[in-house]
Amino acid sequence: MTADMGQIVTGWKPQFSKLWSKHTLVIEHSLHKSDLFSEEALAKLIEKTPPEHYNLATMGEGDPKTADWREGVLGSASGAEAIEAIKKGRLWLNIRHCQDFDPRYKAVLDQLFEEFESHVPGLNTYKRNMGILITSPKCQTLYHFDLPGQHLWQIAGRKKVYIYPNREPFISGVDRQRVLLRETREEFPFEPWYDDYAEIYHLEPGQMAYWPLHAPHRVENEDCLNISLTLEHWDTEVRNAYAVNYGNGVLKRFFGYEAKNNKPSGLHVYPKAALSMAYKKLGFEKSGSYKDEVDFKLDAKQPQGFADIPLTAKFA
Ligand SMILES: [Fe+2]
Repeated sequence: MTADMGQIVTGWKPQFSKLWSKHTLVIEHSLHKSDLFSEEALAKLIEKTPPEHYNLATMGEGDPKTADWREGVLGSASGAEAIEAIKKGRLWLNIRHCQDFDPRYKAVLDQLFEEFESHVPGLNTYKRNMGILITSPKCQTLYHFDLPGQHLWQIAGRKKVYIYPNREPFISGVDRQRVLLRETREEFPFEPWYDDYAEIYHLEPGQMAYWPLHAPHRVENEDCLNISLTLEHWDTEVRNAYAVNYGNGVLKRFFGYEAKNNKPSGLHVYPKAALSMAYKKLGFEKSGSYKDEVDFKLDAKQPQGFADIPLTAKFA
């Protein structure tokens, strides 16, 4: 499999190794030509995806701040029916952690990170993760940030990606801590004027974007089916940023102390990492905050691509 792929990161430029994780990079790749990501291959993948490995959602139109986000299930739909429903509806299917249940995607994931590591001195990635997003025309992903390093790779269709500065007021220390301590999902307040300060990219098949750690972002599909990959990884910077922000959150909650330093390097990293570990070990971190309730199932015969069902727990 890997031998057939050829080079995945095709558009690397020498200056990218200096810009990596500090500025947004848009880089050309070859995965849009791979048979592994064709509609036929993805239809087969959908059929073998375990229920805990996908999220299916639908949402309202207009202002991303007020979009009505609902979660659903694939039910008995075939992979081809699922893609047909997504083409005509307003649906968002995320097949998560593909590397854990299909070795062909793990091989791609490992190869592309090895290519990055060969380009960026000192880069050592782990907890690599691939999600495949199959999403409807004009579908949107709400304003959020991700804890690990994240890239968005475009396979089919076009999308508009808004990337915001990873600092106040676009992301506050308090919001960041609430997400890290799992007190909320990775979504938080958005104001339309933030767009005046966003970097905006129109991603085409064969392009990927990688933004600085914790930079908030949101995505709007153009009027076409979109197939994209979200790739995530951890490295020293990600781990230290996690420990410092998490530790600052614990200091605030237990001691009322407002720590100002959230830089992912320096002497304060280690005691904060220890504090974070203690907080988790003592069981303070909320568990179960990611339980999903569903109220629709996919149905390619319906005009919107799904049918309502009574609200129920996804894994009841
Ligand atoms: Fe994201």
